[in-house]
Amino acid sequence: MNLILIGYMGSGKSTLGRKLAKKLNHPFIDLDDYIEDQEQLSIPELFKTRGEIYFRKKENEYLKALLEDQDNVVLALGGGTPCYANNMALITAHKNATSFYFKAGIKELTSRLKHEKENRPLLNRFSTDDELMEFIGKHMFERSAYYNQADVVIPVDNTTELDVLDKVMSHLV
Ligand code: S3P
Repeated sequence: MNLILIGYMGSGKSTLGRKLAKKLNHPFIDLDDYIEDQEQLSIPELFKTRGEIYFRKKENEYLKALLEDQDNVVLALGGGTPCYANNMALITAHKNATSFYFKAGIKELTSRLKHEKENRPLLNRFSTDDELMEFIGKHMFERSAYYNQADVVIPVDNTTELDVLDKVMSHLV
């Protein structure tokens, strides 16, 4: 059984994914890291030199390959992964996977992301917190319909990492 973690940038997919994998004694794969390894370029470099369309194409190819090849892994997706190509359909149709949406609110995401914009090509152009919050609000409006197709939705605002991990674990028995 694969665990697939979905959510906006800054929602905790990678941090919680690593901890979850350790708890379950499963390998952890971060799709962004995997793409960087395969392409030998960082995500900001990929966006800059090859463009977002190329990135989305590769994201779809590597997601497909991982879903076909891997079993018993915790897989953290990029924030945009469920919203492009047929990615969410691939995830929901996958027989051996449970998907979890780590749902954070716009204010919480803004406060988490305002210090982490630099390595995120979609966010680094915003200089004020207001601009960032407006963008995140619109982006979440577009993306929520995809995220909400996850098997399990877990709110992550005003809660501890431990609580979120316990909630995930409670769906695995
Ligand atoms: C993106 C999120 C990023 C990365 C890329 C695009 C997005 O992943 O895939 O910068 O479209 O939301 P994280 O959610 O891990 O930051």
